[in-house]
Formats: sequence, C-alpha cells, structure tokens
Amino acid sequence: MWKVVLLLIMGLGDLGFSQHYSQFQWLSYLRGRHRYASFRSEDADCPLECDCPSAYPTAMYCHGRNLQHVPYVPSHIKYVYLQRNQINSIQDGVFDNATNLVWVVLFHNQLESDKIGKNVFSKLRNLDRLLLEHNQLTCVPPNLPKSLSDLRLAHNKISKIPPGLFQRMTNLTSLQLQANVIEDVAGAFSGLKSLTILDMRRNKLKKIPNGLPERLQQLYLEFNDIESVPAHFLTVLPKLQFVRLAHNKLTDKGLPADVFNISTLIELDLSFNKLKKIPLVHRNLENLYLQANRIKDFSLSSFCRPIDMTNFSRMRMLRLDGNKINAEDIPSEAAYCLRHIVAVDV
Ligand SMILES: *[C@@H]1O[C@H](CO)[C@@H](O)[C@H](O)[C@H]1NC(C)=O
Ligand SMILES: *[C@@H]1O[C@H](CO)[C@@H](O)[C@H](O)[C@H]1NC(C)=O
Ligand SMILES: *[C@@H]1O[C@H](CO)[C@@H](O)[C@H](O)[C@H]1NC(C)=O
Ligand SMILES: *[C@@H]1O[C@H](CO)[C@@H](O)[C@H](O)[C@H]1NC(C)=O
Repeated sequence: MWKVVLLLIMGLGDLGFSQHYSQFQWLSYLRGRHRYASFRSEDADCPLECDCPSAYPTAMYCHGRNLQHVPYVPSHIKYVYLQRNQINSIQDGVFDNATNLVWVVLFHNQLESDKIGKNVFSKLRNLDRLLLEHNQLTCVPPNLPKSLSDLRLAHNKISKIPPGLFQRMTNLTSLQLQANVIEDVAGAFSGLKSLTILDMRRNKLKKIPNGLPERLQQLYLEFNDIESVPAHFLTVLPKLQFVRLAHNKLTDKGLPADVFNISTLIELDLSFNKLKKIPLVHRNLENLYLQANRIKDFSLSSFCRPIDMTNFSRMRMLRLDGNKINAEDIPSEAAYCLRHIVAVDV
C-alpha cells in the first residue's frame, strides 16, 4: 500500500512533497515506467497520450506532454495527473464517466474561465483535491463538488469571489488563492466550516475579509494593501494561531487597542508596514515579527503587564531590525519578563 501512495505523490512532481524521496527512488520509478510501457497496449482502457501503470491501477499520468485537451478518463481512475500541458478548455461531460476521481491535478496549464463548462467537476462526488494553480482563470469554477478538502487556485487572474460560491463546502480545509487580483471577498468564506488554512497573499485586498470561517488556524495576507484591522476581528476566530500581515500598509491608527491581545495567537507577522509603536500582544504569543517598520520605542508594556511581572511572556522570537531602535533602547527589566526569548533582532 505504501508503494502506491509513494507513486501517487511522485506523480505530482513539484508539489513539494517530492523532495522527501531520494533520487534513487525516482530512478527506480522511471525504470519501472519503462517496463510498464510494454504492457500498456494490453490495457485498452488507457488513452494513448497517457500512462496507466498496471502496478498502480487507479492512477493515470498525462503530465508534461503538450496536451491541448483533457483525454478520456476511464471510470476506474482515481488520480489523474494533467499538470504542465497546454490545456486551455474543458468541456462539460469530460469527467462524467470518472466519478471515482479523488485527485485532479491541472496546475501549469492555460485554462481560461470562459472555456470551462459550468458542470465539469459537479458530478465528481469523491473529489478531494483539485489543483488549478498557474492557469489563466478569472473566476473560481462554479459548481465545485462539496467533497473537496483541498482547493488550489493560486497564480491565476481571479478578481472576484461571489457570495455563496463556497456554500455548503463543509469539508474544505485548505484554500489557496495567493497571487491573484482579488479586491474583496464580501463574506464568501463564511460557510466554510472546516477551513483551517486560508492563503490570500499577493492580492489587492484593502481590508481584512469579513466573515472569516471560525475554525481558521492560519491566515496569510502578506503583500496586499491592507491599512487597518477591524476591532474584534480575532475574537470571533477562536482557533487562529498564525496571522501574517507583512508587506501591507498598516499604521498605528489602523490597529485598535487590544486587537492582538488574543490568547490563541502563536505567531504574528507585522513586518514591512508603517507602524511606529509595538502593538500590545498577549503573553502567549511566541513569534512577533516587526522588522522594517518605523518603531522608535521598545515598549516593554506591549508584552509584559506591570501587575504580573511574575507571569512571563512566552515570546521566543522578536524581530525589530530595520526600525529606529538599538540594543541600548531595550530596558534591562525586559530580562524578567521575556524569559523564554531565544532571539531579539534590533
Ligand atoms: C462513458 O461510458 C459510456 C459507456 O461505457 C460510453 O458510451 C461513453 O462514450 C462514455 N462517455 C465519455 C464522455 O467518455
Ligand atoms: C466530507 O468528508 C467526510 C469524511 O471524509 C465524508 O464522509 C463526507 O461524505 C464528506 N462530505 C461530502 C459532502 O462529501
Ligand atoms: C488582554 O486579554 C486578557 C484576557 O485574555 C485580559 O485579561 C487583559 O486585561 C487584556 N489586556 C489588556 C491590556 O487589555
Ligand atoms: C499567569 O496568568 C494566567 C492567566 O492570567 C494563569 O492562568 C497562569 O496560571 C499564571 N501563571 C503564573 C505562573 O502565575
């Protein structure tokens, strides 16, 4: 069984997992493929453009072959690898016989939104992963199956997410929308009851999306145009641990007092903004990134409350380099409270 999983993962090539497998394993995979090729003609149920190794009977490999269309996918296939081709359109019906599909991998193609049928994916009741990053999409494909847990749409040209699009997608745990041109999401995410990771780096957001799902644990919003953070936006997200807001336009005025005084937060990245003060954070925060702002004072009270000097901050990493403070500006009392600190960069 583990072998099957290994090959499935390797089929993804550059998904990021592959580096864990040694070159030797790759080599034996390639050799194996060579051998399977001679059996292929016996397998009538595999399109000529693709490889369906008999040792991995539910996978179909069609990546990197200059394909311009999606080949016929036989009904027993669960994992189809179509990445790195020239596919720009998918008509309704193409996957209609392949209702067992669990993964559809289509990244690095030329897909255009108006050339994708409205119901291309809608009958795939078992679909778990749909990987569509690095295409030319201008909107999220409609009628996505409710079974999806991982949806990747990064590096496209998506500008809008209409409300209701993700309704009832209660199994979605990870949504990647980074490197698009999204300005607003108008509460489109509120129905995503299982979403734990939302990646919206490198978009055109002017504010933090409202109605974020309440199970969210990781929120990535670097490289947007966000100027302020709404009061209480974190108190309605009781599971949030990682918030990254680097490379935005945040000012002190845009941060309501106490907005980051949240006990669940472990990491807060506010680097490369326009802050002049260190915002108040909760004692549970472990990593605080504030480099490349305009901070002039090391305000110990931002991490340590005078009443409970014995109740230490959990801070481990504090970055303040690229600001207007030096090591001498750190008061000696800091040592009492910042006991867990591993590094302070100034
Ligand atoms: C689906 O399967 C049926 C019966 O096996 C076949 O006639 C039909 O052409 C297939 N459809 C597609 C889109 O491949
Ligand atoms: C969500 O996932 C669970 C567990 O994997 C599964 O039983 C359920 O059918 C899925 N929901 C949908 C709508 O596919
Ligand atoms: C921070 O939040 C805690 C509750 O977790 C609260 O007791 C405390 O008063 C708050 N600190 C400030 C300075 O508002
Ligand atoms: C520090 O304060 C928290 C809540 O404010 C409390 O739960 C914890 O026990 C205190 N720790 C110490 C060492 O006093």
